Amino acid sequence: MKPAAFMFLLISSAACVNLKYISKRNSVDGCIDWSVDLKTYRVLAGEPLRVKCALFYSYIRTNYTMTQNAKLRLIWYKNKGDSEEPIIFSGHRLSKEGDSIWFRSAEMEDNGFYTCVLRNTTYCMKVSMSLTVKENDEGLCFSSQIRYLENAEITKSKLITCPDIDDYLAPYKQPIMTWYKECQKKEWRSSIIINTTSLWIPVVEEDDGGNYTCELQYGSRVVRRTTELKVTALITARPPKVLFPTEGQTSIIDVQLGMPLSLDCKAFFGYIGESRPIIYWMKGDKFVEELEGHVRESEVRVLREYLGEKEVELSLTFDAVEETDMGNYTCHVENHNGRGRGSVVLQKKDMYRLELAGGLGAILLLLGVFTAIYKCYNIEIMLCYRRHFGSDETEDDNKEYDAYLSYTKVDLDSVDREVSEEEQFALEILPDVLEKHYGYKLFIPDRDLIPSSIYIEDLARSVEQSRRLIIVLTPEFVARRGWSIFQLETRLHGMLVTGEIKVIMIECTDLRNVINYQEVEALKHTIKALSVVKWRGPKSNQLKSKFWKQVIYEMPTKKKETLSRRQVLDSGEQGLFGDLQAVSTIAMTTTSPSVAPTHADIPDFNQSNHLQMRHFCRSYEYEIPASTLQIATLSNRHMYCNIPMTLLNGQMTQNNTGGKAKQEIHLNSTFVPLSGRELTSDIW
Ligand SMILES: *[C@@H]1O[C@H](CO)[C@@H](O)[C@H](O)[C@H]1NC(C)=O
Ligand SMILES: *[C@@H]1O[C@H](CO)[C@@H](O)[C@H](O)[C@H]1NC(C)=O
Ligand SMILES: *[C@@H]1O[C@H](CO)[C@@H](O)[C@H](O)[C@H]1NC(C)=O
Ligand SMILES: *[C@@H]1O[C@H](CO)[C@@H](O)[C@H](O)[C@H]1NC(C)=O
Ligand SMILES: *[C@@H]1O[C@H](CO)[C@@H](O)[C@H](O)[C@H]1NC(C)=O
Repeated sequence: MKPAAFMFLLISSAACVNLKYISKRNSVDGCIDWSVDLKTYRVLAGEPLRVKCALFYSYIRTNYTMTQNAKLRLIWYKNKGDSEEPIIFSGHRLSKEGDSIWFRSAEMEDNGFYTCVLRNTTYCMKVSMSLTVKENDEGLCFSSQIRYLENAEITKSKLITCPDIDDYLAPYKQPIMTWYKECQKKEWRSSIIINTTSLWIPVVEEDDGGNYTCELQYGSRVVRRTTELKVTALITARPPKVLFPTEGQTSIIDVQLGMPLSLDCKAFFGYIGESRPIIYWMKGDKFVEELEGHVRESEVRVLREYLGEKEVELSLTFDAVEETDMGNYTCHVENHNGRGRGSVVLQKKDMYRLELAGGLGAILLLLGVFTAIYKCYNIEIMLCYRRHFGSDETEDDNKEYDAYLSYTKVDLDSVDREVSEEEQFALEILPDVLEKHYGYKLFIPDRDLIPSSIYIEDLARSVEQSRRLIIVLTPEFVARRGWSIFQLETRLHGMLVTGEIKVIMIECTDLRNVINYQEVEALKHTIKALSVVKWRGPKSNQLKSKFWKQVIYEMPTKKKETLSRRQVLDSGEQGLFGDLQAVSTIAMTTTSPSVAPTHADIPDFNQSNHLQMRHFCRSYEYEIPASTLQIATLSNRHMYCNIPMTLLNGQMTQNNTGGKAKQEIHLNSTFVPLSGRELTSDIW
């Protein structure tokens, strides 16, 4: 029983293989259905056509005559949607002839499936044929949708035959046929042989590729068949070749962790017919699918293609390289001739390769030592270097000031208020040391600018005239200025963003606890050329502290810095330099051992008569006859003269007679007080 069933299966499957079409064979209504025949009919509209019942050609061994003799009937149906309608052969356009239907001329409406059913009362079998009718492409003699395709290897020979015309050929009669290329009659080159139904090219050239149309005369009509010939390279007998990573040698790529990466494998595929290139990446013996999710393979891109030979590229992309991604990656390519591969090893960028351990290692070690020394002493080294070799940045930039100091007294109302360490530093020590000790020329808006209707404009211009912008951030300053402190005037904002002006930000303490700390951080991010220097309390005030070195380092290079005892002493207003005295003496002895003994020898670096005015109220750059300004000794404590600010706010420092005098001078018609809001919305 069992062997018998097995034999049956074997036989029936063998039989099926022999049959042309086996996909669907059912007998729902007692009719064996062979579904759709493989042969499809493709014609241009208007052409005559014969549709043969495929049963007699592929499925049964009898011919039409024999079935007629066996009293079997052949019935034709046309499939309309899901239903089959019997075809009534009444018109002139189509007729039933033996085992076929003849269309005098096929039309677009004839598109579809035709079913022939062979049956008697006990027996039934059917099969369908597909017919495609197409109009010519615009301006052409063929429809590209029903073209036949042929390939020809370059330099080899090629025979193009006119396909599917057997039904139109009468025996013993020479067919009348014309050949066209691109729908044009052509002067074929002499080596090409045309013997009616076929065209022979002995040596295929590149421009033999194209659309060949054979046109057969059939009665009063013509039948056209078009074959598109593709010229290809010679079929290769070699495996594909990996171009990058280079085959046979391992490329090493240094990668930075956390960075995205794309490994591009390039490979050359010779022509092997219409098969797609096989190319893939592997890490060791793992396929990309087995790797972590952040590693992906791209689509295969065809970089170049010529006659079917291709250079393709396949990328392996890493969203962000991780430690575990280091390793050996191999790009594999293959065709039926064999395989090829190229490997690339990913390694971390900072990894020193073993080969370097020798002489280079020593150099690296030395470099390391130097780096360490540099790290510890870099500012000193840089300052020393600058003193000796640095070029004078201030020489030819046509800027008036070395720095713009954007610190104003925070609490305008309480002049008598005990000043905090930070305020004292920002208002007194910082400008004094920079100007008097180091000889920089500062612009301090409260001091150097008259309030006027174009106050903000003036400020902006002054910033443009300055080589640096010093922003001092004391907690009070940041907190009091509120949320919108750093809404900058657009021109200034532009300068900060483009790095046109270098900004030195002096942070007094940790501002992290200040309410609008984020504003400060945001400001820092917008500034392109920014250096932050931390002021760490009064100990930073000492002239030899690291703080001043950093500040000076960030300030413009001034080649000739003659520091004079006179200036220091001269400017030694007891208030400030009372505190600083000891320090400045030390600084004097260390930085300028040859202190000039007399005033006469010492060049006055400010070269202005304002120097005297700087003593107490920091001098105002606009010209005031010195005599009109009665600068009284206010107290023995150093006092910051905040005249413009007080003027602006329409108030007077009660005990400041100098302020009164100035007010008289400058409260002329051009002076329009600014609102407090206008000022405070601005850092300047
Ligand atoms: C049909 O087949 C028979 C037997 O093979 C043969 O004698 C006959 O000529 C065939 N008829 C046609 C029209 O081919
Ligand atoms: C129907 O056709 C089959 C196959 O030719 C044949 O075996 C059968 O006897 C026929 N039946 C009738 C009723 O003629
Ligand atoms: C046409 O060419 C084919 C193939 O080259 C050849 O076999 C056939 O004899 C030729 N026929 C004529 C009429 O030259
Ligand atoms: C063949 O015809 C198609 C239009 O269907 C055209 O795009 C193609 O360029 C033609 N081939 C040649 C080689 O001219
Ligand atoms: C990388 O892997 C390939 C394929 O497995 C191998 O041929 C090659 O030698 C490996 N290279 C290194 C450096 O391990």
